[in-house]
Amino acid sequence: MNPVTNPFAPGAGTPPPELAGRDELRETVRVALERVRRGLPTKSVLIVGLRGVGKTVLLDRMRDDAEASGIQTVRIEAPESRSLPALIAPQLRQALIKLSRSEQARALAERALRALTGFANALKIKYHDIEVGTDFPAEPGLADNGDLEHDLQALIETVGAAAQAAGTALVLFIDELQYVEEDQLAALITALHRAAQRRLPIILVGAGLPQLRGQMGRAKSYAERLFDFPEIGPLSDVDARDAIVKPLSDQRVEIGDDALRSIVDQTHGYPYFLQEWGKHGWDTAIRSPITLGDITSASRSAIAALDESFFRVRFDRLTPVEKKYLRAMAELGPGPHRSGDIADKLNRKVTSLGPTRSQLITKGMVWSPNHGDTAFTVPLFDEFMKRIMPDSDWNE
Ligand SMILES: Nc1ncnc2c1ncn2[C@@H]1O[C@H](COP(=O)(O)OP(=O)(O)OP(=O)(O)O)[C@@H](O)[C@H]1O
Ligand SMILES: [Mg+2]
Repeated sequence: MNPVTNPFAPGAGTPPPELAGRDELRETVRVALERVRRGLPTKSVLIVGLRGVGKTVLLDRMRDDAEASGIQTVRIEAPESRSLPALIAPQLRQALIKLSRSEQARALAERALRALTGFANALKIKYHDIEVGTDFPAEPGLADNGDLEHDLQALIETVGAAAQAAGTALVLFIDELQYVEEDQLAALITALHRAAQRRLPIILVGAGLPQLRGQMGRAKSYAERLFDFPEIGPLSDVDARDAIVKPLSDQRVEIGDDALRSIVDQTHGYPYFLQEWGKHGWDTAIRSPITLGDITSASRSAIAALDESFFRVRFDRLTPVEKKYLRAMAELGPGPHRSGDIADKLNRKVTSLGPTRSQLITKGMVWSPNHGDTAFTVPLFDEFMKRIMPDSDWNE
């Protein structure tokens, strides 16, 4: 069918034509944000899930929901190499400038902008990557100690007070939170904790890989009580079907039941894969309804596309040793696997593989669901590893 009107949208952070199966969580967050706007006790929300399950698009949708109801938002994505203060400062500045347009909030927003100047000046020495416009001179003693934990707390308090004066809430949407270093996570947790104690309308809605939960707990032991960690994963059968059928029927296209069944089975309901299968199914079919035969040939191009993009970008970032480690895991199946079993496959000692495993965790390729267990963060990565390193001599 005409590729120009193909509704499906595989891609990192690309909004799907139908955001299936996430209504409940959206509602939970909507309620949380309304509560925080009213100054009621509310936990920050950290959405955790594997690669490609739809964390980013969900976060973006929640942000749109919030903005539509008049809540102020800040949107940050933590890359591997930037510091949290450098990421957060320019975004807070923009939010504060907006808040300062409200008559009741102007004085407090300007005070927060002064805090931001002090914050940036004092922390530049430690975090060289901070770059932010300074609209107002610093106020000595306000967020300018040069100690992140203290200064972020002071800054967040002044920002929260400005949002409160404006009769709104400020929500920090932060994606890929697992890349934020532990001391910086700790500072963020402390700052939010303090703001929550003071009932200030500022809250975090974050997303990250499943290891985030443990990282937060290590950064601050009370983090687990302060945050909710809803987990998102593959879609249920009904939702996976919706993700395919609704965009099709919007275009008056039908799909056979067996064809739909085949998509749901092969994708295991993983959102990224559903988009890829939907896209290739559409492109392969000549006309409506899409048949099982169409899906069978579309599967080949869908897998090839995933191998070239979704899987490939992650594979290319690996060292030879890391590839071998993941290939050994793949040999054992989807996982999780015991470290001892992986070491056995490689004829190595568990301890000698420790550094490789840690690097893979830092890169976000694997995580540890339980002590001593290792699991892929990318769904179906085991099958990909076998496709890309098929030789029986990978272990030499
Ligand atoms: N609920 C959903 N229903 C249908 N498709 C979805 C849904 N959520 C996400 N998708 C699709 O899945 C793909 C991946 O989404 P997204 O980039 O948000 O995942 P992610 O969890 O952020 O992945 P990563 O961990 O790699 O950043 C996109 O193509 C998106 O359109
Ligand atoms: Mg993402």
